[in-house]
Amino acid sequence: MSYRPLEPDRLDRAEAYKLFISAVVPRPIGWVSTCSESGLANAAPFSWFNAVCGDPLMLMFSAGKRRGQPKDTTRNIEALGEYVVNVATAANADKMVQSSADYEPDISEFDAVGLTPLPATRVRPPRIAESPIHFECELEQVLRLGNDASDVIIGRCVMIHIQEEVLAEDGRVDATRLAPIARLGRDEYAVIREVQRIPRPPQPTG
Ligand SMILES: Cc1cc2nc3c(=O)[nH]c(=O)nc-3n(C[C@H](O)[C@H](O)[C@H](O)COP(=O)(O)O)c2cc1C
Repeated sequence: MSYRPLEPDRLDRAEAYKLFISAVVPRPIGWVSTCSESGLANAAPFSWFNAVCGDPLMLMFSAGKRRGQPKDTTRNIEALGEYVVNVATAANADKMVQSSADYEPDISEFDAVGLTPLPATRVRPPRIAESPIHFECELEQVLRLGNDASDVIIGRCVMIHIQEEVLAEDGRVDATRLAPIARLGRDEYAVIREVQRIPRPPQPTG
């Protein structure tokens, strides 16, 4: 068995990025809906995304810059302090990917891609009806990382909406009914349709 040693600092930056995202897999995809101060709805997918705190519930995603400027999603969240994270699935994958196109800030991805807005209950941006799970979030913190490269946006989840069809009998989400889509490297994706159970060792009590 041989391993290829790679020093990130010695790699071309674009190649290092492509290698990195092909190695940190699979990444869940948060499909983030926001709105501008003038009320224009925006949607874009982010696969540098995860759950990061259990009490209270918090989610993070990391938004890069475009031509050195924050993306519309980042700008809208910093202006409004509110957004919705919608879960990407096999069923909404095509629209999710289409919504990642570089639209001008005055174009709504809801119109351009044909997304159905649903009113949120605790925040102003709309939920995306094509997604079966919505997390309404209030902005908690923005961490600026690297050489002005990425903004890690952390949000407190203040409301959750889950379609009954993806819930199991125990009230939790059934992954096979949800069929979430995950980002791999290149333009590759994985869909979870099969689940393995691996019981954990006994946990210490108390
Ligand atoms: C599946 C997928 C995942 C993506 N993940 C990220 C990400 O984690 N961070 C990021 O900055 N851009 C990511 N992008 C690119 C953004 O979606 C894209 O730049 C989008 O145009 C941003 O939209 P906005 O300007 O409306 O915010 C991803 C694109 C796709 C298709």
